[in-house]
Amino acid sequence: MKHLIAPSVLSADFANLQRDVEMINSSEADWFHVDIMDGVFVPNISFGFPVMEAISRHAKKPLDVHLMIVNPDHYIERFAQAGASTITVHYEACPHLHKTIQSIHEAGAKACVALNPHTPVELLSDILTDLDMVLVMSVNPGFGGQKFIPNTLDKIRRLRSLANVLNPGLLIEVDGGVALHNTPALLHAGADVLVAGNSIFGAESPVEMISAMKHLPST
Ligand code: DX5
Ligand code: ZN
Repeated sequence: MKHLIAPSVLSADFANLQRDVEMINSSEADWFHVDIMDGVFVPNISFGFPVMEAISRHAKKPLDVHLMIVNPDHYIERFAQAGASTITVHYEACPHLHKTIQSIHEAGAKACVALNPHTPVELLSDILTDLDMVLVMSVNPGFGGQKFIPNTLDKIRRLRSLANVLNPGLLIEVDGGVALHNTPALLHAGADVLVAGNSIFGAESPVEMISAMKHLPST
């Protein structure tokens, strides 16, 4: 499968949100990555339903919603109604993860679990068959523009081996500090979906950067 590119709207210009959403629509990007932060699970607050719904009204590609919030169960139905195609919850925020994943599927969305940098991929072995995707965080969640943590490559390789046995169709997404220079290594390790904020929106031509990331082969 050709890898997917999911630009992170967190790095967009919120005063020109429609323009930036149209830029992604007209690019070779596959999904919109939508980061929801509550100021509790992570030390930052991003945006909530009004902004997400505004993105949803204009977006012509699936919304990949990354919930960096405590008690995500309270909001799953609402995010699905607001247009989420995939809903990602954090392993570290879900004491009843199996039930949370069931709720995501019942709401009609694809289910993904995110792992913070210190959380081993092996902790997912008893839930992997229920998941559509795993998001491997390559920075500590909360902010765009951080430096990629190199150990992520090993985590992706280990997760790919685990998934080959338990759930070969599982998608592996990586998020944080992803740019052109580490794209080939991430693809080679087994990543399927690349989230990128700063490297896309900070580029001279975001559309060309998306295209470049989309067409790079793995090393
Ligand atoms: C970080 C978010 C990311 C962030 C990525 O907590 O989950 O999606 O926007 O931004 P970059 O690509 O700039 O690291
Ligand atoms: Zn994210």
